[in-house]
Amino acid sequence: MKIINVIGSPRSSGNSATVAQMLLEKLPVEKAQVRTFQLNRLNYRGCQGCMACKTKFDHCVAKDDLTEVLEEIRIADVVVIGTSVYIGEINAQTKGLCDRFYSYYLPDYLTNPRPGRLAPGKKLVFILSQGNPDPNAYKDLVAKYTGFFDRLGFTNVYTIRVLGAMPFSDVRIAESVLQSINDTAHQIFVGV
Ligand SMILES: Cc1cc2nc3c(=O)[nH]c(=O)nc-3n(C[C@H](O)[C@H](O)[C@H](O)COP(=O)(O)O)c2cc1C
Repeated sequence: MKIINVIGSPRSSGNSATVAQMLLEKLPVEKAQVRTFQLNRLNYRGCQGCMACKTKFDHCVAKDDLTEVLEEIRIADVVVIGTSVYIGEINAQTKGLCDRFYSYYLPDYLTNPRPGRLAPGKKLVFILSQGNPDPNAYKDLVAKYTGFFDRLGFTNVYTIRVLGAMPFSDVRIAESVLQSINDTAHQIFVGV
């Protein structure tokens, strides 16, 4: 089982990265090969809108540190993406990666009922951490991005949310989040 862990938050030991690590620690290690990318340490640009992935190629032609990340995600069984909520959106580093995910869409993605290039069977865990303790705040982000990941071709998309975690506070993972981590780990690794 090939697992790609993408730390989207610039805080590599922050809430979203910690939740991802706790999830990964529940893996049957002998059966899993985990590779972690910290987006904040990589050099890359967002999508350039060149449309080469829709006209001449089946992949993103931009050559930078995301080239490898995009290829690794393409061949992974499980992808974990952690992000903080910044100014009501996923943080910029993660958004840059998601824009480049446009290359996973087929040329006829607007009309194709299966618009994504990703092979069936992939699982994605989307971890969002926010300062606001209200679960209704930014639930639009969950709906928007899980829908987007679904259309790219991820077969199962799981979300884990951390609420009320401010950047100047110590990382403390609440009991309810621990439960979500356990539930998600079970759903991902059942039968592995
Ligand atoms: C630049 C910046 C913008 C933020 N904007 C929001 C926001 O709009 N809404 C919110 O609830 N929290 C906001 N926060 C708080 C973070 O989302 C919160 O601390 C989150 O838990 C950080 O996740 P991390 O520990 O994984 O980096 C912001 C923090 C920073 C530094």
